[in-house]
Amino acid sequence: MDSMKGLKRTHDCYSLTETALGQDVVLMGWVLRRRDHGGLIFIDLRDRKGITQVVFAPEVDPKSHQRAHSLRSEYVIAVKGRIRRRPKGMENPKIKTGMIEVACRDLRILNTSVTPAFSLDEEGEISEGLRLRYRYLDLRRPLMVRNIVLRHRVCQAMRSYLNDHDFLEIETPMLTRSTPEGARDYLVPSRVNPGCFYALPQSPQLYKQILMVSGLDRYYQIVRCFRDEDLRADRQPEFTQLDMEMSFVEEDDIMGLVEGLVTSIFKEALNYEVKTPFRVLPYQEAMDRFGTDRPDVRFGLELQDISDIASKCGLKVFQKAVSAGGVVKSINAKGMGDLSRKDLDDLTKFAIGLGAKGLAWVKIRGDGSWQSPIAKFFSSEEKLAIAQQTDATPGDILFFGADQKATVCKVLGELRLELARRGNLIPVKGFSFIWVTDFPLVEYDKDEGRFVALHHPFTSPKEEDLGLLSTDPASVRSRAYDLVLNGNEVGGGSIRIHRASMQEAIFNVLSISKEEAHDKFGFLLEALEHGAPPHGGIAFGLDRLVMIMAGRDTIRDVIAFPKTQKAQCLMAHAPAKVSMAQLAELYLRPGWEI
Ligand code: AMO
Ligand code: AMP
Repeated sequence: MDSMKGLKRTHDCYSLTETALGQDVVLMGWVLRRRDHGGLIFIDLRDRKGITQVVFAPEVDPKSHQRAHSLRSEYVIAVKGRIRRRPKGMENPKIKTGMIEVACRDLRILNTSVTPAFSLDEEGEISEGLRLRYRYLDLRRPLMVRNIVLRHRVCQAMRSYLNDHDFLEIETPMLTRSTPEGARDYLVPSRVNPGCFYALPQSPQLYKQILMVSGLDRYYQIVRCFRDEDLRADRQPEFTQLDMEMSFVEEDDIMGLVEGLVTSIFKEALNYEVKTPFRVLPYQEAMDRFGTDRPDVRFGLELQDISDIASKCGLKVFQKAVSAGGVVKSINAKGMGDLSRKDLDDLTKFAIGLGAKGLAWVKIRGDGSWQSPIAKFFSSEEKLAIAQQTDATPGDILFFGADQKATVCKVLGELRLELARRGNLIPVKGFSFIWVTDFPLVEYDKDEGRFVALHHPFTSPKEEDLGLLSTDPASVRSRAYDLVLNGNEVGGGSIRIHRASMQEAIFNVLSISKEEAHDKFGFLLEALEHGAPPHGGIAFGLDRLVMIMAGRDTIRDVIAFPKTQKAQCLMAHAPAKVSMAQLAELYLRPGWEI
């Protein structure tokens, strides 16, 4: 093995072009591939930036040429040589360095590599388990480098915009106590306080509010949050938020600032012009029209309520759903009337998997008549009324959901997305932001037998709904807002409660007793009594935002070292067992075998 002594890297593997012909350069990087050709040896040398071809010729330097035979994939080398034009027919116009090569005069082998678990030379699919186990190799792939660089750019753009808008970047503790964001906590035992535990923050919510009480006025932090919840493609046990809070603001101030921020991020990181102002959709309207509080509004297929017509029709399941206080809704899949029997069976299974009792459908024939198992239960007036309500014309297919409203919204909301996927209605390119506002403040949790906060307990109710707080809490709207991008919730925030008496009243609605409130949030209540300004904020899910910007399907692709669905790091093998001695030191006794 050789040393780097006497060699300093002069260029990366991306920059050299014909303008550098005849120049002596030093490059360092990894061997992507080696080809032996008529006495010459060619290496594609790779670093983070790109690839440059290096040629070893006996007449240029016999020693390097001789040693180049031993080079294998992923060996780390330094080469010194002169830039020359590639011979005719050997150019590669697809890459920036494709016209030149480096004729090597000094080869240093800085390190060898075992045969990698997967080749970095091929574009094909690699199993994710393997990628995560050998993440250092995976992160050498151009696709992953692009994602990591994009994430870096997004963070830089965030910082730069917020710094320009008078925000202070302030760190809050990682060892803290539980903040209720709705997930389970990760706990850390305290050695010096036997029997006591810190919680890793689910978000810096309380600290950032207290920073406002401190008068720091505008705060942000790119911060790790921890939530022990069931994982999905867009969820990780530890993830990153851009967390912000501002004093003396109302909804429009925060939304305006965020629109400016998002515009700047997309301009800086992707050179994409975001359209502002973002469309605002109240929660109720989002649910009624799209069946979800994070609608993808880039295509139609909106839900139509046909409960009125259905309540009088001859189909029992429809009639019963309405008389039981539920609804009947329909989606018109425009022009998709050629779905096959198998498609319809699959879609029915899909709907049942989401909790539906069935999925009724109607195909509209050329003459406007109905082809459907349920056709016979409708009079011609009812058919006409449904056709009018759903804008049904020949070639369309209508789907129906009949049940309690929450179930119908869930099933038809997901069906809408599935139909859009099948009908190729979702644009591949482009970014469409909307705000969803006017969320209910609380919802009833049957399992817990009490109301729980929809956003979090520190969110302010709407002033005009305050009268309902004691009589009908479920219909009180909050001052919360979510930022939705292409059907994904990328951010959420609210105007907060800034008076202790109101905070206590909300704890009361949530059946959090005075003692519990005092025990868990006493410090917040006390802080609110010390001159808390009106304030509000928002947190972006950085991983989700970058995932969508990068056009990926999972946030694991934009996190350097993510965890699996089982919350494991396959590379470092975390979590892992610990010794009895370590446990004893923490006053913990194992309830399992070590
Ligand atoms: P919320 O809980 O809505 O709000 O979180 C804000 C954003 O964080 C992202 N997010 C996640 N991303 C990846 N993995 C997860 N497990 C995960 N959970 C949430 C989402 C979400 O929109 N303190 C409040 C913010 C505030 O009120 O200012 C909060 O944390 O994109
Ligand atoms: P049935 O009368 O149960 O045979 O149902 C007639 C049609 O209505 C079938 O296509 C079912 O899949 C569908 N269906 C049954 N229950 C529901 C429901 N709750 N919502 C929508 N369609 C349903």
